[in-house]
Amino acid sequence: MPDRNLSSDPLVRSNRLAARYPAASVPAISSITFAVEAGQRVALLGPNGGGKSTLFRVLTGELAPSSGELEISVARPALVPQSEQSRLDYPVSALDVALMGSVSRLPWWRRPSRADRVLARESLRRVGLESEANTSFGELSGGQRQRVLVARALVQDSPLLLLDEPFAGIDLPSAALLAELFNELASEGRGLLMATHDVEQARSWDLVLCCNRVQIAFGDPATVLTREVIERTYGASLVALPGDRSLAITPPHHHDHFEADR
Ligand SMILES: Nc1ncnc2c1ncn2[C@@H]1O[C@H](COP(=O)(O)OP(=O)(O)OP(=O)(O)O)[C@@H](O)[C@H]1O
Ligand SMILES: [Mg+2]
Repeated sequence: MPDRNLSSDPLVRSNRLAARYPAASVPAISSITFAVEAGQRVALLGPNGGGKSTLFRVLTGELAPSSGELEISVARPALVPQSEQSRLDYPVSALDVALMGSVSRLPWWRRPSRADRVLARESLRRVGLESEANTSFGELSGGQRQRVLVARALVQDSPLLLLDEPFAGIDLPSAALLAELFNELASEGRGLLMATHDVEQARSWDLVLCCNRVQIAFGDPATVLTREVIERTYGASLVALPGDRSLAITPPHHHDHFEADR
């Protein structure tokens, strides 16, 4: 794995990237210019509907760019999708779900091998769920399910991890474990792009990309996260606290997603 301090070609780089859904008349995202290098943790901030998940769809190839440039030097970025709280009856074990990560790497005729099973168990261990390998996915708590989905992404063994609000609605121990794991993954040389609604968390990451349908800013959080940028990023979702000069963001609403699993 490359050292995170060595500068290298980015895993992903875009220039004035835009994307539009087929039935829509205007792009869902535009003017997106950013890069993620090996070992970098990049936080993606934006309001509900700001285009965070849309950017992930473009990066996984689900949605084609409508203009601009996109270079991805990674065969398949691994995605941890925005959580699907409604799907409680997954008739498979935690190990089965983790093992699904190997399917994206394999040619269609190959079944997961013994080595894939070893990697799936190792990934469950890294998310602290080794002892739950045989538990049915639907019986796990929301935070545990989210950790299994992170294990599935680790089994994909991609240098680029796309994390769509991995901390949304999860318990504190799960959040603490994932926060530490994400730092570890970056220090091993993986690039991480994580959508979050937590501005304070973004301040502790290497870079921040602010997006409210159009890109507002990209760069070092200490320079980028000014009051003005936060106001433009959150727009109408931002409320001033009475008697206080600091800003509060109205809690994001979390909706159920019924997307096909990928
Ligand atoms: N499948 C779709 N077809 C058409 N428009 C869509 C589709 N999915 C999302 N959109 C629109 O694209 C815009 C960006 O949505 P997106 O889901 O990317 O936002 P987000 O930043 O991920 O929001 P959230 O914080 O709620 O997850 C919204 O206006 C949304 O209505
Ligand atoms: Mg989203």
